[in-house]
Amino acid sequence: MRVLLVAPPGAGKGTQGALIATHFGIPHIATGDLLRDHVARRTELGQAVQEHLDRGELVPDAVVLDMVRDAFIESRTSNGGGYVLDGMPRNMTQARALYEIGRSLEMTADVALHLKADDEELTRRLLARAALEGRSDDTEEVIRRRLALYHEVTHPIVDWYAERGILVSVDAVQPVQRVARQILTALEAMRPLIDHVPEHARRPIDLTSLGTAFGHA
Ligand code: AP5
Ligand code: MG
Repeated sequence: MRVLLVAPPGAGKGTQGALIATHFGIPHIATGDLLRDHVARRTELGQAVQEHLDRGELVPDAVVLDMVRDAFIESRTSNGGGYVLDGMPRNMTQARALYEIGRSLEMTADVALHLKADDEELTRRLLARAALEGRSDDTEEVIRRRLALYHEVTHPIVDWYAERGILVSVDAVQPVQRVARQILTALEAMRPLIDHVPEHARRPIDLTSLGTAFGHA
């Protein structure tokens, strides 16, 4: 299973990414976590990107693309090539480059999972997290910048995945376990088909109007 998460800050990429990874036994590759680890270890790369992270700006495309290529190769060697990719792509350039990396390694995404949530809810979640985790970019001003960047350069990618027929959209403003159940049910239903249905024959799947009935099922 190869899944990309395309979602705004605070929508639950980290939360749901970890659950998907555990469920399918695949690596959770989170570009933000990898970058923050470099910052914490004060590596050369960490020192170069710290200011970008602190201001909520994107780091240069080449930095994250190199990281993800390495993580893909590692997954192919040790894990059969599955992944859940969290935090990439962030713009159209990354989306196209990622597709080329995927093609060269025969690891293009099976599913682009879009977690939908409104800015008010996202801001509330991130400010609540700030009190617990103290992430340097969880301040009101930087959250505003991260959300603005998401709307401007990241969200347009969603349409590109819809056109490719690999988009699955989920309402992320529901309890964590309910969101997880909807995602895992959809991915499990798709799993047997993924290797047999070519991309051009696929259609986007919109679960956002399932509402609570599904969650209680
Ligand atoms: P990144 O680490 O990817 O941060 P982000 O996109 O801002 O998203 P978050 O990690 O804040 O939120 P999330 O969606 O993971 O939500 P979470 O599950 O934690 O990127 C950080 C920075 O790195 C970027 O700004 C940029 O500088 C750089 N970067 C990274 N990738 C890059 C790239 N490809 N190109 C260039 N630069 C890049 O949940 C949030 C909170 O809500 C948690 O407290 C959680 O417990 C809670 N929560 C989750 N789900 C629910 C729910 N359903 N209901 C209630 N609460 C919930
Ligand atoms: Mg995250």
